[in-house]
Amino acid sequence: YGDTSQKIDYVFKVVLIGDSAVGKSQILSRFARNEFSLDSKATIGVEFQTRTLVIQHKSVKAQIWDTAGQERYRAVTSAYYRGAVGAMLAYDITKRQSFDHIPRWLEELRGHADKNIVIILIGNKCDLENQRAVSTEDAREFAEKEGLFFLETSALEATNVETAFLTILTEIF
Ligand code: GTP
Ligand code: MG
Repeated sequence: YGDTSQKIDYVFKVVLIGDSAVGKSQILSRFARNEFSLDSKATIGVEFQTRTLVIQHKSVKAQIWDTAGQERYRAVTSAYYRGAVGAMLAYDITKRQSFDHIPRWLEELRGHADKNIVIILIGNKCDLENQRAVSTEDAREFAEKEGLFFLETSALEATNVETAFLTILTEIF
């Protein structure tokens, strides 16, 4: 009834996790507002943004939660994961350590989130190919072994950001 364009069929909560500075907040900003900033500040606590999109003729409101990668700025973990149906596990392709920490993030995720949560591994900053420290093959192999979707993205160049969210949202659907 009323304005049907405002009708929401589904609300899906998706969480972003990964080391500090891998680009989680900029991935979100690119997806939610099509904006990008090079002088992004470290996230403190939890923030979220939403974007409504149409998937298979239904209007889906994606509610994306973003938290600090830095331990000291992180909010209560269980509340962050509660109700999440999707997760993006991000690393920076130019920072080997951010990839090496992925198993820890995955462990935290699996310890707190619903067991059916859809997870995508994201290798961000693929615009910095000349500084690459993690091969696409290594990441793909890891993702396959763990049963995760996988994509390399660039929030700066808007590469695969939309596809990454759509991969999760369509799979949840
Ligand atoms: P925390 O909030 O501390 O957990 O960090 P974060 O993961 O949210 O990182 P953030 O989005 O703040 O980005 C960190 C830095 O990386 C900023 O300077 C961004 O501009 C930069 N950055 C993010 N995405 C990209 C990208 O795709 N390419 C390049 N070249 N830089 C990026
Ligand atoms: Mg952030």
